[in-house]
Amino acid sequence: MVNMGHFGKRIAALRRKAGLSQTDLAEKLGVTSQAVSKWECGNSVPDIDILLELSHMHKVTINDMFEDVDLLYPLTGTQTGSSGIAYFAPEQEREYNIEWANAMQADKWIQRNWEYTRTDHAYRDGIGKQIASCDGVILELGAGPGGGFMPYILKANPNATIIINDLSPTVVREWKCFLDRELDSPNLYFAVFDFCHMPLKDNCIDIISDGGGIGNCEGSKAKALKEAYRVLKPGGKLITSTGFVNRETFAALPVEAQKVLLEKRPDVFEDLYEDTVLAGFSKIDSVISGCWYTDDDESSIADLARSLGVNLKFTSYTRYCTKE
Ligand SMILES: C[S@@+](CC[C@H](N)C(=O)[O-])C[C@H]1O[C@@H](n2cnc3c(N)ncnc32)[C@H](O)[C@@H]1O
Repeated sequence: MVNMGHFGKRIAALRRKAGLSQTDLAEKLGVTSQAVSKWECGNSVPDIDILLELSHMHKVTINDMFEDVDLLYPLTGTQTGSSGIAYFAPEQEREYNIEWANAMQADKWIQRNWEYTRTDHAYRDGIGKQIASCDGVILELGAGPGGGFMPYILKANPNATIIINDLSPTVVREWKCFLDRELDSPNLYFAVFDFCHMPLKDNCIDIISDGGGIGNCEGSKAKALKEAYRVLKPGGKLITSTGFVNRETFAALPVEAQKVLLEKRPDVFEDLYEDTVLAGFSKIDSVISGCWYTDDDESSIADLARSLGVNLKFTSYTRYCTKE
C-alpha cells in the first residue's frame, strides 16, 4: 500500500534540498501551490506525468519517492513496528521513571528545549553543522528531553539521517510526536534501547553523537563506550560531551571537601577519557566547551557542595573520538 505520508515528507525534503518554496515548485510544475501542499501533507499524490517530472527534476526514481525504507531493519534485523518506533526495551515506562516522564510531558520540556536550540548557540550550532555534513547514518544516544546534538544537526540539515535513541520510551515517543509535527523530516528513525547493549550490528553507523547521554548513563559507561566503538564503521566518529570536576578544580578544593566528595560522590570526578581509550578509540581530541557552578543549582551535589562551603566548578568537554 502507498504510504502517502511518507511520500509527502520525501518530496518536501527534496524540494527543500533544491532550495525551492512550495510556490516555486508549483510554478515549475504548472500546478497550484495548494496542490503541492496537499501532496506534502500526505493528502493526495500527483498524476503520473507530474511524478515523472519530479523524478527528473530531483534525479531520483519514482520508487525512491514512494518507498518507505526501514533503515533499522538492515541495521538490527528487526522491523520497526507500525508506531514508527522500534522497541528493543519495554514499551511501558519503567516504574521509577514515571514521575519524571509525566513532568516532561506535562511541562512540555521537549518543546521548550527545542525552542531554546533554535536561538543562537555558536558552539553547538558548529558541532551540529559538522555532524550534519556527513551523508551517512547518525545515531543520537540517550537523546533525553534536550535531544543532545540532534536539534542542532536538524537545524543545519533537516534531511539528515538520524536514529534517535533513549532507554525511556516516553522520551522517544515524545520526540517522534514533536518532530512529526514540527519538521516533517523524512530520514528520522526512533529506537528505544539500552545503549550499553545496542541491538545494532557491528560497523554500521557513521557518526554517534552524544550530548550528555553517556555521562548520565544507567548502566556501565565503559560498556556504553565499547558498544559505541563496536557499532561505528571504521573511520566513524563518536562526538560525545560530558561535564565533570577536573583535576585542577579538585586540587584547589580544601582537603576536607576533597575527602567528603571523593567518598560520597566519586562520580562527579569521572573523566571518561581512559574508558574511551580502553573502548578502542585511538584518536581522541578533547575540547573544553564551557563550565558551570553548583552555586545556584538545586541538585543533590549542589546541596552537598554548599554543606561543605564550596562552589564546585564543572567543566564541559566535547570529545571527538575516531575509530581507526
Ligand atoms: C539527563 S539526560 C541528558 C542528556 C540528553 N542528551 C539531553 O540533551 O537532554 C540523559 C538521557 O540518557 C538516557 N539514558 C540513560 N542511560 C541510558 C541507557 N543505558 N541507554 C539509553 N538511554 C539512556 C536517559 O533516559 C535520559 O533521557
